[in-house]
Amino acid sequence: DWTMGAYREEAIAKIRAQVGDSHVICGLSGGVDSSVAAALLHEAIGDQLTCVFVDHGLLRKDEAQEVVTMFRDNMNLKVIHADEADLFLGELEGQSDPETKRKIIGRLFIDVFQKYANEIEDAKFLAQGTLYPDVIESVSFSGGPSVTIKSHHNVGGLPEKMGLSLVEPLRELFKDEVRALGRELGLPASFIGRHPFPGPGLAIRCPGEITREKLDILREADAVYIDQIRKHGLYDEIWQAFVAILPVRTVGVMGDGRTYDFACALRAVTSVDGMTADYYPFSHEFLGETATRIINEVPGINRVTYDITSKPPGTIEWE
Ligand code: XMP
Repeated sequence: DWTMGAYREEAIAKIRAQVGDSHVICGLSGGVDSSVAAALLHEAIGDQLTCVFVDHGLLRKDEAQEVVTMFRDNMNLKVIHADEADLFLGELEGQSDPETKRKIIGRLFIDVFQKYANEIEDAKFLAQGTLYPDVIESVSFSGGPSVTIKSHHNVGGLPEKMGLSLVEPLRELFKDEVRALGRELGLPASFIGRHPFPGPGLAIRCPGEITREKLDILREADAVYIDQIRKHGLYDEIWQAFVAILPVRTVGVMGDGRTYDFACALRAVTSVDGMTADYYPFSHEFLGETATRIINEVPGINRVTYDITSKPPGTIEWE
């Protein structure tokens, strides 16, 4: 892509001019945005970059290991794996209000990030994979007042607190442009094409109280669902797909026994930028096969529903 090739050179020059020979810290989430930001920064300033990967225990199956392996082992970036699942899950215990959950995660994320970042000597800059749509924090309904729907997970305020300047090399880009830039930088196609994953992670796909049991069930169900989507060649047609585990147990029957397990909802949407979305029109066959697989392969779930809400009026995530 000629345009992205030019953008990349321009972005690299800008980063070098801004940073000089100082050290930069970058939060790596495993999402496409921070991954592309990290790869771009690495190309621009090499060893002057250290990435901090905050593992809040709310990641998908095998995700932490995949991210660390790719960036540290395959791409030679300096990556600190901050395994803080106990801290996050401990503080989230008993909390069921969506905004409270988001705020706890946001606050701890900043604390943890700061703790690890403080150990990096001579850091003067903090890099973020902020995209253009992230810059818009509130949604305005036509005729109505401006309403904040969800507190977005970001590290706003942190740079000042830590005495760091901000580097935001993706700030002018939309998602599809970030992907094009990632391809340009040589990130694996499988990584670039990944569906977006929110900062608060599985917390917002586990409405109500979060428990380790529910998270484990959710991870397994989600892995089966994504496997189904890939097997049917649908992954790239979908903006985002995931499972939400519902805070309700329902009665079922399996073999000659009664079951009393969690219900889950499958979500899949098409979208251009995440601001609006349509539910994906899976075939009934696909849905039936997927439900059967999840119930057979994931202990703890005995009922599968499909979320057919578009955005608006729904949001993509459940919280
Ligand atoms: P909603 O649920 O608001 O989500 O329709 C729109 C898009 O944003 C993602 N999302 C987040 N991303 N931090 C993020 O980095 C967040 O706190 C957050 N909340 C939602 C969501 O996955 C979807 O792509």
